[in-house]
Amino acid sequence: LAKVEVDLTSIPEGKNVIIKWRGKPVFIRHRTPDEIQEARTIDWKTLRDPQPDEARVKKPEWLVMLGVCTHLGCVPIGEAGDFGGWFCPCHGSHYDISGRIRKGPAPLNLDVPQYEFNEVDGKLVV
Ligand code: FES
Repeated sequence: LAKVEVDLTSIPEGKNVIIKWRGKPVFIRHRTPDEIQEARTIDWKTLRDPQPDEARVKKPEWLVMLGVCTHLGCVPIGEAGDFGGWFCPCHGSHYDISGRIRKGPAPLNLDVPQYEFNEVDGKLVV
């Protein structure tokens, strides 16, 4: 299977990068301490697709997910929407800074692909 390597040292804190993986966009965000705190202080059990932030990331500062809206598959826009995360302009779904659906028609959180960190060279392998 095709793997993609991403040099994480090139992504500063507070920035998004989009890579292509098997023809799909993958969103990578280097989250700030404030964003991590926000993602973790919300009562996740009350969300539409209840998932703690801890279950969605391997390292708190790196959020990695498929950039495919779980409604009908559009590509959401980063740093947009009412919850500080992503906004899908097709029908108005708002995702938070953990990629969880918070408002709009999408039924599920943005999907998290399989990935790992190469601790030797600091690269992300998707
Ligand atoms: Fe994203 Fe419909 S495809 S809201």
